[in-house]
Amino acid sequence: MTAVSPESAPLFEPFDLGGCHLENRVVMAPMTRLFSHGDGILAESAVDYYRRRAEGGIGLILSEGIATSDLAAQCALVPKIEPGPAFDMWVRVTDAVHAAGSKIMAQLWHTGLGRIRTESKDPSVLSIGPTAEYLLEGSPQIETGGNTPPGRAMTKADIAAVVEEFAVAAVASKEAGFDGIQLHAAHGYLFDQFFWPETNRRTDEYGGDIAGRTRLAVEVVEEIRRRVGPGFPIGLRYSQWKLPAHYSVRSHKTPQELEAFLTPLVKAGVDFLDASTRRYWEPAFDGSELTLAGWTKKLTGLPVMAVGSVGLSGAFRPYDMTEKADPDVDLGRIAGMLTRGEADLILVGRALITNPEWANNVRTGNYAALVPYDIAKLAEHW
Ligand SMILES: Cc1cc2nc3c(=O)[nH]c(=O)nc-3n(C[C@H](O)[C@H](O)[C@H](O)COP(=O)(O)O)c2cc1C
Repeated sequence: MTAVSPESAPLFEPFDLGGCHLENRVVMAPMTRLFSHGDGILAESAVDYYRRRAEGGIGLILSEGIATSDLAAQCALVPKIEPGPAFDMWVRVTDAVHAAGSKIMAQLWHTGLGRIRTESKDPSVLSIGPTAEYLLEGSPQIETGGNTPPGRAMTKADIAAVVEEFAVAAVASKEAGFDGIQLHAAHGYLFDQFFWPETNRRTDEYGGDIAGRTRLAVEVVEEIRRRVGPGFPIGLRYSQWKLPAHYSVRSHKTPQELEAFLTPLVKAGVDFLDASTRRYWEPAFDGSELTLAGWTKKLTGLPVMAVGSVGLSGAFRPYDMTEKADPDVDLGRIAGMLTRGEADLILVGRALITNPEWANNVRTGNYAALVPYDIAKLAEHW
C-alpha cells in the first residue's frame, strides 16, 4: 500500500461512530441521483456506483436520501426500502460496500412540502407539512429564497403515520445490512419545516417553542431507538440554510439558540450529528471563528460531521450548479479541524461524483489524478 501523505494523515485515522468502526474519517455525503425506476427500486447500476466509492477508500458512505413513503419522496425516481425488490436492491448495495471493506448508513428522507408533486407517483395527492404553506405569501423570505407550492397541514394522524413510517424504514435499513441510519432533518425538508418558525406556524404541541418544533424529530428518534435496539447508530443531519435557495437563513441565531435546538435531539438518543453547511470552514456566528460543526461538537460532545465544498472551489447550489468546480487540495484546513477536535468526520459530496477514487488519491497525495466537478456528470451513474 502506498504511504499516506503527511498532510492528509489526520483524515485517515480510524474512528468509532456510535459503535460502528470506520477505517478513516472520509465520508461520502448523501446524494440523490434519481437513478431509480418510478416504483422506488434502485437501478442495477447503483450496486457498482456505491461499490466504486467503497473501493476508492471511503471510510463511510451515507446513502442517497431514501423516501420513507410515496408521499415522502421528492419525486417518483427517489428510491424506497419497502419489502420486495426495493429492499433487495439495498441488500445488494450493502453487501457490495462491505465486501469492499467500507461501511454504509441509510439516509431516511421525508420532503414534506418540498415534494415535487407534479413528478410524484400520484400528483393528485397534496403534499404535507407543519402548515399548509411553506412560507406565507408576502413573506420577505420569499423574495430572497423562493417558496414551494402549498400543500396541507398535517393532522395528528399524519404525524403518527410519519413516526411509524420512519420506524419501519429504520428497521428495514438494519435488516438490509446498513450500519446505521441518518435522518435528513436539513435543507428545508419535513423535519426542518417543523424546526424553522417561519415554516412552522402551528399552535399545537408540534409548534411554538423549540421543544414543540423539535417534537416530531424527537418522537421519530425515540421510536426508531425502541424498534432497532441499542448499538445501531442513529444520526441526524441539520442545517441553517434551506431550499429552495435560502442560503443566508440562520434559523438558530446564536449559540444559545443552537444549544436549545440540539439538546432535545441529544436527549432523544441521537448518536451523531451532521452540521450541513455549503462551506465547511465558515464561522457559524459573529464573534467566533468556530464553524457550525465546531459549535455542534462543543455544545453536544457527540461525534460530528463537517461538510461543504471539500476538495472544490465552488459552493453547492442545488438548483444552479452550472459551474465547474476545480479541485482544491487545501487539506490543511480539514486536517486542522480534525486535529483540533472541531469535527470528527469530513463529508465529500460533488468531488466524489467525478472522483470515485478521491479518498485513495488524497491519502497518497496523488492530487494530479483529481478531476474537476462537472454537473454534466450527474447524468451518468458511474
Ligand atoms: C446531486 C446532489 C444530490 C444531493 N442529494 C442530497 C440528499 O439526498 N440528501 C442530503 O442530505 N443532501 C444531498 N445533497 C447535499 C450533499 O450531501 C452535500 O451536503 C452538498 O453537496 C455539499 O457538499 P459538497 O460541496 O462536498 O458537494 C446533494 C448534493 C448533490 C450535489
